[in-house]
Amino acid sequence: MSVHISAKKGEIAPVVLMPGDPLRAKYMADNFLQDAKLVSQTRNILYYTGNYKDKAITIGASGMGCPSIGIYSYELYNEYNVECIVRIGTCGAYTTGLRLFDLINVERAFSESTYALHAFGYKSDHLYHEGNAYAAINDAAATLGLKMQAGAIHSSDVFYRSEEGIPDIAYKNDCVAVEMEAFALFANAKYLKKSAATLLTVSDIIPTHEQISADEREKALLPMMQLALESAMRI
Ligand code: HPA
Repeated sequence: MSVHISAKKGEIAPVVLMPGDPLRAKYMADNFLQDAKLVSQTRNILYYTGNYKDKAITIGASGMGCPSIGIYSYELYNEYNVECIVRIGTCGAYTTGLRLFDLINVERAFSESTYALHAFGYKSDHLYHEGNAYAAINDAAATLGLKMQAGAIHSSDVFYRSEEGIPDIAYKNDCVAVEMEAFALFANAKYLKKSAATLLTVSDIIPTHEQISADEREKALLPMMQLALESAMRI
């Protein structure tokens, strides 16, 4: 047990796939893992461990935002000997160069968050994927014939803001899309010398207000889920 995860030591696999939403973790465990076992449900943040093609994998949620993923990923790395976490999430595109359903393998996360500064003294607002997971995702995508965008994204602390459209800091920092978690995950992985990647599906295009509808969402995320599972086989 750790402070926020009730799994026993040994019940979490070395590779963890991490959606934001606990029910997405349940959906993936129900549909893709053999012999999935619910190993933690503290605060309804569900973690399942099972087998994908005979490889043990844990799928569990991060919740929303840097503080939440910061807690779960730190405890997984530090107390459960997790080697690699692949965040799988959605993002809003800042540019019409991206389309709905596009997949992004995050190269760099920029953030206004002070998480990395206050946690570890990291002064830079830019953090990078860590370890071999990023390359594993590109390799799996090539095998599955999925087109990937590599990119810098904004891990924002803010979902609702007074400024309409795209915030100035996003332009200034060359961010193609926005989500809310990668920066803290990358900070923890860097500090603890672990592997971390973030795989995103574009769920909305901010300049045009296009969105994947609620009905489309489950099906829309299937390629990312499959890609994450196949990537895990290469880590
Ligand atoms: N902002 C932040 N996170 C997101 C968004 C957004 O517009 N869309 C999907 N995740």
